[in-house]
Amino acid sequence: MIVCRSAVELEQMREAGRLVGEVLTELAAHVAPGVTTADLDAMAEARIMKAGATPAFKGYHGYPATICASINDEVIHGIPSGRRVLNEGDVISIDVGAALGGYFGDSALTLPVGGASEQAATLLRVTEESLYKAIECVRPGGRISDIGHAIQQHVEAYGFSVVREFVGHGIGQKMHEEPQVPNYGERGRGPRLAEGMVLAIEPMVNAGKASVKVLADGWTAVTADGGLSAHFEHTVAVTANGPWILTAREVPVGARR
Ligand code: MF3
Ligand code: CO
Repeated sequence: MIVCRSAVELEQMREAGRLVGEVLTELAAHVAPGVTTADLDAMAEARIMKAGATPAFKGYHGYPATICASINDEVIHGIPSGRRVLNEGDVISIDVGAALGGYFGDSALTLPVGGASEQAATLLRVTEESLYKAIECVRPGGRISDIGHAIQQHVEAYGFSVVREFVGHGIGQKMHEEPQVPNYGERGRGPRLAEGMVLAIEPMVNAGKASVKVLADGWTAVTADGGLSAHFEHTVAVTANGPWILTAREVPVGARR
C-alpha cells in the first residue's frame, strides 16, 4: 500500500527533511583532504541528536553508523571509519537519514575532495541533473516509471550507466515504504502518482559499466569494473502545485563544483 500524507504530515516531513539538508550542508563544508569518514559521521550524529532527532540508518538491519560515506568506486553504503582518510581528487558520496517527530527524511550528494578530474566533474553534474529531471516528473497522475525513465535517458546520453540493484523508495513513518522507485525503465508503467505521496528518489550512476558487487563487510557496494560512481538523493512530495523537495538545502552545497 502506498500511503498519501496530509498537509500537516508533509509539514512535519519537511522539518525532518530540512534537518537532513542542514546536516549535508554542514558535512559538505568539512569535506577536505585529511578528514576521515568517521569525523563526518560523528559530526552528523551530533547534529541530528542536538535537533532531537534520530539517525535513521544506525541499527537499520545492523548498519553501524549515522551516515553512509562512499568514496570513488564505492557506490553506496560505505561504512564510516577512522582509517578512511579523504585524499585530494577523491569523490565522496554522503547519504544521511533522520527521523524527527515520527517522520523520515533521506538525502544524499556527491562532491569532490579538492579539485575533481574532468570525468568526475561531469559524472557528478550529470547524476545531479538526472535527479532534477526525475523530480520534474513528480506530479499527480504521473507514473512511477516516468522517474526512472528520465534518469536513464539523461545518464545514458553521456555514456554513463544506471545502477540496477538499488532503487529509490517511498518514505514516511518508515525509511523504506512502498513503492520501489527504480532509476531506469520505460515511461508510463507502475503505480500512478497521487497528491501526498512521498518518494526518496536516488539515482546511482557509474562512469563505466552498471554492475556492482557488495564487499565482505556486507554493506559497501562498489562498481564491478572499479570505475567512479555518484549518488544524489532527495525526499520529494507529490503536490498539486508540483514537486516539493522536502530535503531541499537553503544554503547551496558544493560551491566548488
Ligand atoms: N539512502 C539509503 C537508502 O535509502 C540509505 C540506507 S543505508 C542503511 O536505502 F544503512 F540504512 F541501510
Ligand atoms: Co534512500
